[in-house]
Amino acid sequence: MKVLGIETSCDETGVAIFDTTAGLLGHCVHTQIALHAAYGGVVPELASRDHIRRLPLLVKQALDAAGCELSQLDAIAYTAGPGLAGALLVGASFAESLGLALAVPVLPIHHLEGHLLSPLLAADAPAFPFVALLVSGGHTQLMRVTGVGEYALLGESVDDAAGEAFDKTAKLLGLGYPGGPQLAALAERGQTGRFRLPRPMLRSGDLDFSFSGLKTAVLNVVSAPTWRAEDVADLATDFQAAVVEVLCAKALRALEQTGLVRLVVAGGVGANRHLRERLDASTRRKGWRVYYPEPELCTDNGAMIAFAGALRAAAGQRGGETPAVRVFPRWPLAELHSPVQP
Ligand code: KG4
Ligand code: ZN
Repeated sequence: MKVLGIETSCDETGVAIFDTTAGLLGHCVHTQIALHAAYGGVVPELASRDHIRRLPLLVKQALDAAGCELSQLDAIAYTAGPGLAGALLVGASFAESLGLALAVPVLPIHHLEGHLLSPLLAADAPAFPFVALLVSGGHTQLMRVTGVGEYALLGESVDDAAGEAFDKTAKLLGLGYPGGPQLAALAERGQTGRFRLPRPMLRSGDLDFSFSGLKTAVLNVVSAPTWRAEDVADLATDFQAAVVEVLCAKALRALEQTGLVRLVVAGGVGANRHLRERLDASTRRKGWRVYYPEPELCTDNGAMIAFAGALRAAAGQRGGETPAVRVFPRWPLAELHSPVQP
C-alpha cells in the first residue's frame, strides 16, 4: 500500500510517500523560516498562503523522488490538527480533493501521533509499549504508548512548552528566528554553572512541567544592572541545562512509575544534543533505552504523517464515506482512538 502524507499544521509544508512494504519512498519539506523571519514569529495568514503555493509542487517532487504516479496511491493522510486553523485547512482541502479525484480513502492524522510514531521509521525501531516524551514548540507531554492510537497522558506542561521556552528565551537574548536551534548552538559554546536558574517543578512529585518561570528568571538576569552582554553564551548554557535537567528527571520518573524500559523522544526539541546526551547517559545506567527519530524527521515533515496514515490504514481504518474538510486546531492526543474502534 502506498500512502501520500501531507503536513501543513504550522510553518513547514511536508509531503511524503510511504510504502508499507518498501518503507519511505520520497519525502520533501519546504520550510517557511525566511518568510516569517522579519516578523520574529509565524504569521498565520502568510503560512496558509505559502502552503497553497507550495503543495502542488511538493507533491510532484515527492512523487518523482518515489518514482511513483498519482494513480498508484492507495490512500492519502493529512494533518487534521492540532495547529493553525488556516494552515490545517489548506492540507485538509488539498487531501480531500485529491482523494475524491483518485477515489482513494483519505485519513485525518493527529500531528502529535505523527511525531510520536516517527522513531518507528528508524532502522532500529522500538517495540510497544513505551513512554513517549513529546517536546515540540506547542507541546511538552509524557505519554504511555501501548499501540497505535493507545495513548495515555502521564504529565504535561502547565504553561509554556519546552520549545516555546527555548524560542521565547532566545528572543529576549536577542537571537534570531527561529530561536530554539540558535539558543542551543550558543549554549554549546558557554560555560556551565555561572547563573543559578530554577528547576521548575523538579520536585513536584508528579510528571507535569512548567517552563514559563524559567524564561522570567532569564529576563531578570538580563534586566539586572550587573548584566554583561558578553556572558550571553554562559546564560544560554545554564538555561539549556535547566530545561534538560527537568525533562530528563521527569522522563526517568515516568519510566520508573510505569515499569516500562523504552523511552521514545519526539518533536523539535528532541533534536537537542545536550538533551540526547543526558537521556542516553542516565537511562544506560538503568538498562533502559532511548529511541529518536532520524534527525531530519525530528521537526515537522510529511513522512511521519504518511507513516501514521499507513499504520492506521493497515489496521483497518477507513476514510469517511463523504469528503469532509474538518480540522481540529486544539485536539488532545489522549482523545485519539486506536484505528479499529470497538
Ligand atoms: O516539532 P516541531 O518542528 O514543531 C512543532 O510541532 O512545534 O518543533 C519546533 C520546536 C521549536 O520550538 C524549536 O525552537 C525547537 O523545536 N527546537 C529546538 C531545537 N531544534 C528545534 N529546541 C532546542 N534545541 C534544538 N536543537
Ligand atoms: Zn510538530
